[in-house]
Parts: sequence; C-alpha cells; structure tokens
Amino acid sequence: MLTADATRAQLPLHAARLRAISLRELFAQDPERPRRLGLEAAGLYLDSAKQKIDEPALLALETHLQACGFERWREALFGGEAVNGSEGRAALHMALRAGAGAGYQVQGQPVMAAVQAVRERMRAFAQAVIESRLTGLSGLAFRDVVNIGIGGSDLGPRMICEALPAGPGSPRVHFVANVDGAQLHRVLQGLDPATTLLVITSKTFTTQETMANAGNARAWLVAALGEAAVARHCVAVSTNPAEVARFGIPAERLFEFWDWVGGRYSSWSAVGLAALLHLGGEGFAALLGGAERLDQHFRHSPLRHNLPVRMALLSYWNHNLLGAASQVIAPYAQRLERFVGWLQQLEMESNGKRVTREGQPLAEPTTPALWGDVGTNSQHAFFQMLHQGTAVHPVDFILVREADHPYADQQRLLLVNALAQSAALMRGKTAEEVRRELSARGLAGERLEAAIPHRVFPGDRPSSVLLLPRLDAAHLGALMALYEHRTFVLSVLWGINPFDQWGVELGKQLAQSLLAVDGDGTRSGLDASTLDLLARLSSPGDAPAPP
Ligand code: F6P
Repeated sequence: MLTADATRAQLPLHAARLRAISLRELFAQDPERPRRLGLEAAGLYLDSAKQKIDEPALLALETHLQACGFERWREALFGGEAVNGSEGRAALHMALRAGAGAGYQVQGQPVMAAVQAVRERMRAFAQAVIESRLTGLSGLAFRDVVNIGIGGSDLGPRMICEALPAGPGSPRVHFVANVDGAQLHRVLQGLDPATTLLVITSKTFTTQETMANAGNARAWLVAALGEAAVARHCVAVSTNPAEVARFGIPAERLFEFWDWVGGRYSSWSAVGLAALLHLGGEGFAALLGGAERLDQHFRHSPLRHNLPVRMALLSYWNHNLLGAASQVIAPYAQRLERFVGWLQQLEMESNGKRVTREGQPLAEPTTPALWGDVGTNSQHAFFQMLHQGTAVHPVDFILVREADHPYADQQRLLLVNALAQSAALMRGKTAEEVRRELSARGLAGERLEAAIPHRVFPGDRPSSVLLLPRLDAAHLGALMALYEHRTFVLSVLWGINPFDQWGVELGKQLAQSLLAVDGDGTRSGLDASTLDLLARLSSPGDAPAPP
C-alpha cells in the first residue's frame, strides 16, 4: 500500500496534464464524457462531465483517498467510534434515520432502542398537535409553532420547512434564531399566545442567543396566560435535562438527543421536531428514509460509483490542485433558497480547520468559502464574476426536474437557464467567435477591435449538475445526506476532525467579557479599539466625528 504522501505527489502531475487541455477539447476528444462521468444514487443524478477531470485523474484521486485511510475512517464513523477525537465523541447521525433493525452502536453501546423511543414520542406528540388533541392552556388548538434555536438547531429544520409543503392540518411554523430582538418581536407580534407552541431547541440549552430569545418568549407567554403556560406551551429539544428543568419545562415535554449528534448533523434527531410538525409523520419518515438510502449507498458502494466520494474528490481537485477560489452552490429551485445557509454551516463549521486530527498545522488549504443563491436570481447578481472575473469558482447547479406548480412554461425556462449557465461556463466565447458575431452585426474597424475583449468569455470553468426528479421529502433527505457525507470524505482527505468547532468559542468568550465590562473598562483586558467602540455604543446621540 502506497503512503498518502506518495499518492498525493501524483496528483499535481495529473493537474498539469489537464490544465493544458480545455474542457472544450476534452469534450471533442470524448463525446462519451457524460456517460463515463455520470453517477446515480438514491434517485439523485450527478453529471460531472463539465469538470476538468478524466479517468486517470479520478483513479489517482481515489488511490489517494484510500491511502488517507478512507475505508478505515468510514467504518469508524458507521461503527460509532470516537471519530470526534478532540471531544472524545462518536458522530452517528446515520442512526437517527435508520430503521429499527439497524444495529448501530456508539462506542460499543446499542443506541437504536433509545433512538426509536424518542422518534415515537416525537411522532405521537406532533400527531396530537396536528389533530388538535393536544391544546394550550385555554383549550385552544396550537395554530402556530415557534422554533427558537440557532446554528444547527435552526438552519436544518428551517430549510426543510421552506423546501417542503406543509402536511394536512399542520400548524404554521416560524423560526427565531438571531439575538437581534427584532426577529423575535416580528414573529411574536403576529401571534396569539393562547394558540402558540414554543419549541426551544438547543443541544446545550446554554447558547446565549437561544436563551435570550427563549427567556423573552417565555415572558410573553406568562404575561398573557400566567406561569402555568410554560409547562403547556413550551417544549424543549436538548441534551441537557437539568437546564431544561430549570427553565420550567417538565421532563415529559423534553425531547432528548445525545452528545454523539453534532449540531449541524442534527435535523434527523428531535431537533427536527419543528420540521415534523410542519410535514406530519409521513413526510418526516420519508425524509429520514431518503437519507438512509444515501447512507447505505455511501457505506457500501465502491469508490468509483460512490456519489459523496465523487463530489468530495471533485471539490478537493478543484481547490487543492487546480487552485479554484471558492465553491458556489446554485439551486435552481426557489424552495431551496435556504439550502446554501444550511450547507455553509455544515461544510465550513466542519472543515474550516487549520490543524490535523493530531493537532499539527496543515500543509494545504482546507475548506474553500462556500456561497451561492438560487437561480435564476443569482444570474442577475454574481454570475458576471463567475463568467468573466479573474478567479475560477466551480459551481454545483442543483436542478429539480418536475415542477410543483402549474406553470410548466416557467419550469422550462428555469431548467434551460441552468443548463445554459453551466454550458457557458464550460465553453466560453473566444475572441474569434466574438469578432464573427459582431462583424455579422455590421461592426468593423477600431470599434470592433475595442469591443472584443469585453465580450470574450474565457470559459473552461468547471461545474457539476445535480439532478433531482422532484423536490419531495425523500429526495431532500438524500440530498442533505449526500452533502453530509461529502463533507466527511473531504475531512479524510485533509486529515482533520470535521465534528468539532472550537473556532466559535473565542468570540463567545469575548462577548461574555464585554457584557462584564466595568465602568471604564480598564479591568476587562480588551483592546483599545473595542473599548472605544463600546463607549460610543453606550453614549446617546449621534456618533462624534473622528478626531
Ligand atoms: O455555532 C456554534 C454552535 O455550537 C453550533 O455548532 C451549534 O449548531 C449552535 O452553536 C447551537 O448550539 P446549541 O444547539 O447548543 O444551542
């Protein structure tokens, strides 16, 4: 078996070879690229023919992934070992979407009975709310649900609720995350406390933003209905029963999960309660089922046919070998407007690291900035830069074949726009093509020559197209699991722990110090700029002019 250093050393040779060939030439040499580079799993189809890759380069990448110990790490992940080394925890989110018969264990302890028990309590609770059997203090049905949580306790359930239609009889679900009270105020002012259920979602139940929002929402309930409302109108989703009890929520209203579920991987656990209330039991089960299909594919497919592996290898190839600047995600589906936000936390909180699992500084860059927005809106915002800017930003286009609305003409427009953008990035437009086009329109001489450089598209810019037959719960579940596993494969290539997030701690600590700043701030240990700004924020009136 070759060492990872040896297999890594092969990759620049392939990159140099492929840098010298344009994507147009690759297509001319091999019109069969779509067939050769297409992959399907759990109903999702990936076309990676417009990536600057060929079979020898793919093989070299796969060999390198193996040399990085991929198979061992994948088994450790599914085997419930402590793959999150810096916290000594497993990361077994796959158990949360598995059937009752799955034998998942965390560090040797079976977990499926506990997972099933919480899943069943959640289902029964949601059903009772939806059917108005479970009511508020004054006997009225819950018409509105407010999920209070942030990060992984917000982004996943919120994205799912926006992507998928509400099930029959479901309450309206709202989300409050930001510590900016404007969001809580806007949500609560439209609601009636008597018909509102608060779902307070926090793994730790100590997160500053969530506890501030929860405290004020609790006061809003109590002011209208009295202290007894807390036990009837609040439920908690958490791994911290002691703090939940201190808040006044009884144990039977706590939906627990476990420390082996990372926040950004938690939508499948009780953190998905708001999504379950929105979708209903059947829809939520379909979401889990789709993700589980993708898990099985990821666990058992050989590297060459493994969709998360392929997507991770392409990302590594583009950023670490070809020098791409960032990763763009462009869902051509309005209902996936929140998908990029969810994915940003998943990818950048997981792989935004600078040391190896062993704590050694990394020799190569880790996750690129990941950003994007829905098409076609994004075509009128940042696509100019993708086509003619100086840096290359690979794009994942996400397309949904079947429309969920009656406007078939618009669906056709949407899909052809996505394909046109992907093709334009690949083929570009040469100076000669521009000259011909403008000459045909009667432009000549100096004016023609001056116009050409502005109209040239360099092309040769890679993209993938990920195709979903329809945006239903099963395919959304599979799509989310696909990106989760892609993130994991990338972490193996970089040799990092994707399941901790120490990088969010310093800002939290400093916010605490700022809250504790005394009179003149001298004992806080904070820098002069921060103290100056704090003083300006604390003094009334307009900001004084700079000295
Ligand atoms: O952003 C840091 C973080 O710890 C995330 O990992 C997590 O999803 C979020 O805060 C919320 O944490 P909690 O669910 O404990 O409130």
